[in-house]
This record gives sequence, structure tokens and C-alpha cells, in this order.
Amino acid sequence: MTMTPEELQEAAKRHLWMHFSRLGAFRHKDVPVFVRGSGPRLYDAAGRAYLDGLASLFVVQAGHGRAELAEAGRRQAETLGYYPIWSAAHPAAVELAARLAALAPGGLERVFFTTGGSEAVESAWKLARAYFRQIGQPERTKVIARDLAYHGTTMGALAVTGLPAIKDQFEPLVPGARHVANTNRFRSGLPPDVVADDDRFAAACAGAVEAAIVEEGPETVAAVFLEPVQNTGGCFPPPPGYLARVRDVCDRYGVLLVSDEVICGFGRLGHWFGAARYGVVPDMITFAKGVTSGYAPLGGVICTDELAAPFLEGDASFAHGITFGGHPVSCAVALANLDLLESEGIVEHVAATEKAFAERLESLRALDVVGDVRGAGFFWALELVKDPDDPSARFTPEERTALVRGHVAPRLFEAGLVCRADDRVDPVVQLAPVLTCADAELDEIHDILGDVLGNLPSGR
Ligand SMILES: Cc1ncc(COP(=O)(O)O)c(C=O)c1O
Repeated sequence: MTMTPEELQEAAKRHLWMHFSRLGAFRHKDVPVFVRGSGPRLYDAAGRAYLDGLASLFVVQAGHGRAELAEAGRRQAETLGYYPIWSAAHPAAVELAARLAALAPGGLERVFFTTGGSEAVESAWKLARAYFRQIGQPERTKVIARDLAYHGTTMGALAVTGLPAIKDQFEPLVPGARHVANTNRFRSGLPPDVVADDDRFAAACAGAVEAAIVEEGPETVAAVFLEPVQNTGGCFPPPPGYLARVRDVCDRYGVLLVSDEVICGFGRLGHWFGAARYGVVPDMITFAKGVTSGYAPLGGVICTDELAAPFLEGDASFAHGITFGGHPVSCAVALANLDLLESEGIVEHVAATEKAFAERLESLRALDVVGDVRGAGFFWALELVKDPDDPSARFTPEERTALVRGHVAPRLFEAGLVCRADDRVDPVVQLAPVLTCADAELDEIHDILGDVLGNLPSGR
């Protein structure tokens, strides 16, 4: 790097279009510029350390600065820097496909690689449509997803996404996607006695999926997309039995179930895949992010033999491809990352440490501003409330922006914690630390959150 920290600031403000950013905000403040990472820590251009409590963006499972991953990428680039997997193959993509098929729940055997999560979701929807066309049900084109759920930003994936705040600018969207209730227990519109009962709540939420399929006309619905634990809105875990019920609904109406594991895969929930944690076998898994711990971009779809079958015969093909999908360097890095996750027992570490993490976060319920604590594995959210005595009272959009952008986010950052404070809906602080974090880092997360959230200005 040749620029000084001052030159980096100036050039970032002048030339870099930062994603999902209010660029105007950087007129009066610095752009955070991270120059290096090591284990669970990030270091900025001034040399200051931060604890990476979000695995950067739910990505860096194995931690920063892993020489093994850098070396795997270097070796592959030197051996074969690039060749596409368009009617051809290279060993890294072949080995990775076989390895992912072995890790995925039974029956998911075929892997279509992309460069990231949006393309994975896009590809899964296209595959669902192409599959039904191949088997003589061309009218099955629609998808059902859940309110607020984030499934990506490309036009197809954006239609699957259920978060109005990031869709409105781009209307009209791809038609054919419909959204139903998610599993937000804290702010469900259902009667309290239903919400309090696992079984009834699961039945009601799965019933919303069924009702939408029936209303749309089952013969027109191709797939249901859901995350095992929904990210947007703040880590909504499924109530016990919910995913099995949705699986049943899909089977009853001949609809495919897509488990979007762009966040929930590769140990985030203490399992290789989130669907496995909840005992469900989907028809497709979409993945990205943690498959390489972010050292190179990669995503993809793992699908069942049944879905691939119509494309194995005669002159059939899935008319879809992406130049850098299954890039050899990314696949080699992913293989090395899976080696690390396996040899260091990182997935098992999350499963074993989840309770300790949860207990630390749960203790923050004692703070007035913390209304709910929810999540699974190393994927948690604290929902911030306006009135501790009446959790149903909601912040106005202006109030939550003032709270989150004016106080919570900058103070957590100043205190040295990278996490997500989200004001797009009811305000939440999300934690998804690097998966190698141990007691000391979990204590640090707890202490910083306690200090910042316990000392917010009154009258918020
Ligand atoms: C569940 C889910 N699906 C899809 C995506 C889109 O992935 P990408 O940003 O790699 O395109 C994301 C990104 O955060 C995600 O969380």
C-alpha cells in the first residue's frame, strides 16, 4: 500500500462508493479503514485494534490472518490461476463439490458454484423454474419467502428479499415473489397464548406459508426460501418443529424448499448447515460467505439428485453460468478453510460454547434498553426497546435512527467492537463473532455491550 492514512481518507471519500452507505455522512467523519486482521481482531489505519464481533459480515469463520488460507490461494493461482467451469472442470472445483456434497444433508449431491450469495439465490430460483419446466410443470414459477428476510440484492434475489427499505428504490421488481410472516416471537401479531406455545406458534407460522401457497395456487409456486435463523429483524430462530412443518407443507403441494444458508452455514449455528441443526433436509441449500472465511469470493447452490436428474439426460442443460463461479483460487481457499474448520474442531467449538455466549448476552436483559435477546450458535441479536415497562411500544423511524446512528453504533465502534446496529426495522444490535472466539472475547463483547447500552442518554 502506498497511501498514507490521510491520503486513504481523502481518496476513499472522493472515489470509493461504499455499499449500503449514506455517503454524505462521511463529509463530517472518517471512513473506517481496516488494514489488517489477526484472529478475532481487526486493525485500522491508525493501528487501533477492534474485536470483530460480526465476523466482518457473517463471513470470517476461521478468523483473520490465517496463513493456511493465503497459502492455498497462492498455490492455486500459481498452478492454474483461472479456468471456467463452463463445460469443463478443474480439480479444486471438483474436490470442493464432492466435499460439500459429503457435508450436506443426505441426498444433496450436486453443486452449482457462483461468486456470492445473491447469485446463489438467483441461481436457486432459476434452477427451480428450469426444473419444473423440464418435468412438465412450467407454470410453477413463484417463490414464497418471509417478511424482512434478506436474500440478496441482484434483481431476482431482491424480489425474494422481504425488506422494503432496500427494495423501494428499484421498483418495479421481478414479479412472482410473495412474503409471509417470519418467526419473530417478540413482535408477532399473533395472540400471546399462541406465541407462548412452541407448537401453536410453529403451526401458525408454517400455516402462513401454506396459506400463501394455497392463495397463489399451488400449481404456480416453485419454491419456499427461508433461512434456518432469519438474519434481518434480528436473528429469529425457528420455533421447535417449524421447519419440519414447512417441509411437510412443501411436500404436500409439490413445492421445493430452499434453505438459504449464506449466513447459517459453515459452523455459524454449531453445525455444518443450519438445516441439519433443525433436522430438516431441504431440496436446495444456498451458501456463500463462510465457505471461504472470506479470503476469496465464492457461493453456490447444493441440490438434490432429483433436481439435477432432468438435466442429465439427452441434450438438456441448465442455461445459466457465471464467469467467475467456482473460480479455482476461491475453491482452493474453500478447501483449505474446510480443512481448518475440521482440524481445529471449530464447528464443534461453536456448539460447545453457544450456551456460554447466550448466557452472557441474556444477562444484558437487565438493562432497560434491552427488550429481547435471541439467536443460536454464534448468531445473536439484542432488540432495543423504547420503554422497558411496555416492550410493545415502538420507536418511530426517526427515533430509532437517532438512537442507532447517533448513539449505539458509533459508541460501540469507539469502544472497539465491530458489530451491527440496525435501524432499518425495530432496532437491534447483532453479534456474529469469528467462530474461534473463546471466553475472553465473549466476555469482552458482553462488557462493551453492557457499558455502551447501559449508558445511553436518557429520553431516547
Ligand atoms: C441469507 C442471505 N442470502 C443472500 C445474501 C446475499 O449474499 P451476497 O451479499 O454474497 O450477494 C446474504 C447476504 O448477506 C444473506 O445473508
